[in-house]
Formats: sequence, C-alpha cells, structure tokens
Amino acid sequence: MSSNELLLSVEDVTLRFGGVVSLNKVSMNQRRGEILAVIGPNGAGKTSLFNSLTGVYQPQEGTILLHRIDQPALSVIGQKAHRVAKAGVARTFQASRMFGALTAFENVKIGAEDHSGLGFVGAMFKGPRTRRGERASDARTYELLEFVGLTKQANTVSASLSYGDRRRLEIARGLATNPTVLLLDEPAAGTNPSEKVELTELIRKVRDDMGVSILLIEHDMKLVMSLAERLYVLNFGAVIAEGTPDEIRANPAVVEAYLGSSATKGKN
Ligand SMILES: Nc1ncnc2c1ncn2[C@@H]1O[C@H](COP(=O)(O)OP(=O)(O)O)[C@@H](O)[C@H]1O
Ligand SMILES: [Mg+2]
Repeated sequence: MSSNELLLSVEDVTLRFGGVVSLNKVSMNQRRGEILAVIGPNGAGKTSLFNSLTGVYQPQEGTILLHRIDQPALSVIGQKAHRVAKAGVARTFQASRMFGALTAFENVKIGAEDHSGLGFVGAMFKGPRTRRGERASDARTYELLEFVGLTKQANTVSASLSYGDRRRLEIARGLATNPTVLLLDEPAAGTNPSEKVELTELIRKVRDDMGVSILLIEHDMKLVMSLAERLYVLNFGAVIAEGTPDEIRANPAVVEAYLGSSATKGKN
C-alpha cells in the first residue's frame, strides 16, 4: 500500500507547442507505493504529462522532482530520457513499441540488458565478455515472463501474440529495468473484457508483490476506478479534480467535463 512518502512531485508545469498549451500549470504528486491514475478526454494532455515525467518532453515552466531513497531528488526537467529511466522511471506506450519479429523472451531480454549498461545496440550485438551478465539477464527474463503469465509464450514471435498477451509483455519489458515507478499509457487498449480483468489483477500484483508504484492513464472507467487509489482529472491541459474514485465519481465538474452520467454507475 502507499506510504506518506512522496515519490513524484509536479509543480506548476506548463508545456507549450507553439500556440498550443498542452499542460497548463499542472501540479500533482504521487506517494511511494501508490496506484495513481490520470484520466481525461482525448487531447487533455495525459500523454504529454507522461512524456514530461520521462524526459521526452521538456516543459517551459515548473518543476518535476523524482524523490529517491538515500539520494537527492532528481529534477526531471532538462534531463535526457535515458537518465530518467536509469533513475527508476519506466513506461509503456499508448501504441505498442514491441519488436514484432522478436519473441516474447527477446523483447523482455532487450529491456533487461539495456539496463545492464550495454545499451540497445550492445544488447543486440554482444561480445563474449558479456556472457556472465547474459546468464543473469536470461534468468531475470524468465522470472518476468513467469510473473506476467507468459512462460508458455516465451518463444512466440510477439506479432502473433493476442492483444492481452502483448499488453502483458509490455509490462514485463517495463519491469526489466527494475523501476521504482511504472507509467502505463492505456494498458488495456484493444483488450477484451476478460483480458481487462487479468490486466487489472496483474497491475495490482506489480505494486503488491514488486513494490513498484503505478502511474496509469486509462480510458476504461471500470478498470481505472477499480484499480486506482487516487486520480487526477485533466481537461484542456489543466487539472480540474483530484481525489479517490468515489470523490471523482461525485465531482460535478468531472461529470460535466468528461465522464457523463454513466460514470456514476461505474461503466465506460
Ligand atoms: N509533439 C507535439 N507537438 C505538437 N503538439 C503536441 C505534441 N504532443 C502533444 N501535443 C498536443 O498536446 C495536446 C495534448 O495531447 P496529448 O498529451 O496527446 O493528450 P492525451 O494523451 O490526453 O490524449 C494536444 O493538443 C496535442 O495535439
Ligand atoms: Mg494519450
């Protein structure tokens, strides 16, 4: 469960692209161990927020701090994405970035070896001196595939996995870097109802068993309301509400801006 210790603090972050304001003085925080969600209509700025948290976008204003144990907080704005990843922030993408021609095993292993300092190209074309590290990353890869329930599919080419299996493989790949926090951008997109239930359970297990904090963007209201302990609602780049699932469901501004009457019944 989440502690009172801060993990991420975002303060007055503004991100512009020319005349477009993608994030407008966004402030939010996440506690260590928390399952936190960001919801909002299309174009609200959710992915821009993830990109800002991971060093992919550089907001013009504000501060983003990643608090660490036994180390000073990392000021994320101005850092390169690989540096932020190394500091413990992992993510999955809204559109799958899996290498379809590689097997499930290879896709996760690349994540594990990338973390070992070889870099992506090094991980693909490694020399003999890396063999010991390779055995360690093989073991870690099998462990992660088992954790997400894909042991049987280890040697299946990723492109031929079902949608649900692919989304679970992405989570395994995100975990391969041993992150402190895992950012999931619409992890249930394209999945069927039973796959959604499995994904919900898996994400909760990532937090409960691995102690990894979860920051989640998700459109499926049933999934997000059952999983998140707290939510932020973005609309036109600004935070319009923050609270527990019950508080968000009952917030008139949220209902008006986004959810519609069906949300109060817990439907999508
Ligand atoms: N790289 C970019 N260049 C220009 N505009 C962008 C870029 N990324 C995001 N935006 C704009 O920021 C706004 C928020 O987009 P996004 O963060 O993708 O929203 P969401 O994920 O909530 O659907 C949109 O108006 C989008 O066009
Ligand atoms: Mg998005």
